[in-house]
Amino acid sequence: MKTLELQEKTHDEARQGEAFAPFAEEPNVFKKKFYIESYGCAMNFSDSEIVASLLYNEGFGATQNVEEADLILLNTCSIREKAELTVRKRLTEFRKLKLVRRSMLVGMLGCMAERLKGKLLEEEKLVDLVVGPDAYRSLPQLIKEAETGQKGVNVLLSRDETYADISPVRLNSNGITAFVSIMRGCNNMCSFCVVPFTRGRERSRDADSIVNECRDLFTQGFREVTLLGQNVDSYYWMDEQKDLTITFAKLLEMVASIDPLLRVRFSTSHPKDITDEVLFTMAKYNNICKYIHLPVQSGSTRVLQLMNRTYTREWYMAKVDRIKEIMPDCSISADIIAGFCTETEEDHQDTLSIMEYSKYDMSYMFFYSERPGTLAARRFTDDVPLDVKKRRLDEIVKLQNRMSQQSNLLDIGKTFEVLIEGNSKKSDSDWAGRTSQNKVLVFPKNITPLAKGDYVHVKVTAATGATLIGEIV
Ligand code: 5AD
Ligand code: SF4
Repeated sequence: MKTLELQEKTHDEARQGEAFAPFAEEPNVFKKKFYIESYGCAMNFSDSEIVASLLYNEGFGATQNVEEADLILLNTCSIREKAELTVRKRLTEFRKLKLVRRSMLVGMLGCMAERLKGKLLEEEKLVDLVVGPDAYRSLPQLIKEAETGQKGVNVLLSRDETYADISPVRLNSNGITAFVSIMRGCNNMCSFCVVPFTRGRERSRDADSIVNECRDLFTQGFREVTLLGQNVDSYYWMDEQKDLTITFAKLLEMVASIDPLLRVRFSTSHPKDITDEVLFTMAKYNNICKYIHLPVQSGSTRVLQLMNRTYTREWYMAKVDRIKEIMPDCSISADIIAGFCTETEEDHQDTLSIMEYSKYDMSYMFFYSERPGTLAARRFTDDVPLDVKKRRLDEIVKLQNRMSQQSNLLDIGKTFEVLIEGNSKKSDSDWAGRTSQNKVLVFPKNITPLAKGDYVHVKVTAATGATLIGEIV
């Protein structure tokens, strides 16, 4: 089933196998080299940039060539079983390398490190270091110990670590768009989700450090920041000196006010937490992108309750209405899980119908994968057979493909402001950029001298399911 394979790729493994090198060419002064791969979500990608910064300070330089690395790091994801299996498979590929370069170290970072802890060292003999998401500051020390043959584990979770003071080293960057982490952890306890166990309690990062990082990025030529957190709407920072409380809406406003030429995006929102204040702030600033990722997970109130999502089908639909009322041009996307415990055909139909109601422009779609230790694993039976899960997921994917295509066709004839991100993948004579609604728009370069990072108005002339095609107006 091709669609399923494709779908699985869009999220977990979208960044799979991508090795990251620094944005700028570095002089070859580093004594040692590290190679890092990130798996799973944007949060991991952003964490790898923090890890790179810590390693740079220790005299390590990044390489994209695994064969010359002294240190290989895998920043892992545990959200579905398949994500973990992918990493295990990748590890076996390093075995041969280690036979040739015995001094090479292999480290596991991220959620899988946190979930499996010391067990990883027992199960994967190749691994020298296991470091959880809140323990990256201890990496230099653990590397030193591993160099003397002492394997190390640090998976301590923290209540206050936000790495606020660390300037991330931008990896594999296009120089235009960047991720900025604004909070860590999650307090929501959705019953299917392993994240609260692997990333710990929710904590927000100092607002000034976020704004400063975004301002620096703008000064360096970046034109878009995506503010990242597991649940950005519960961002909360108390500025004691100014006696100010900073909510997510306020933070959005602070970042948007840096410069009208800096676009602001954010991810992920929880339907129960996104407020009118956030929606009105989005509407007020042209440079806050009109795009909300609003995971629904299921369209059935009964299933949502088992998932501990704390909203009903009707509440979610009212939220979609409110978004469209305040920002008629706002695009919405979702995460959807097929085949959660006890899901009936009727529940599944509710999911299909809420998708149609919400008119998602895009979705990340998965079938349920039981994760050890979660509330669902402890309380419910994973009772929907795999073939049923896959068939339901296939129906969800097909519906989404139809809706995405339809949404793109409706854009034909409209003109959008596009931020140019670089050449199109297919041709150097075309630019590729994004609309505020997060759709990719490809258009021929014309005689006007333009560069990546420029804004340009483009009229859509044609569309496929995934891309808009247009011409500069
Ligand atoms: N099985 C399938 N999908 C899951 N997600 C989280 N946990 C699971 C799981 N156990 C999905 C949710 C979430 C996205 C990041 O991954 O849709 O929003
Ligand atoms: Fe997991 Fe729910 Fe937190 Fe998202 S909001 S990370 S799905 S517990």
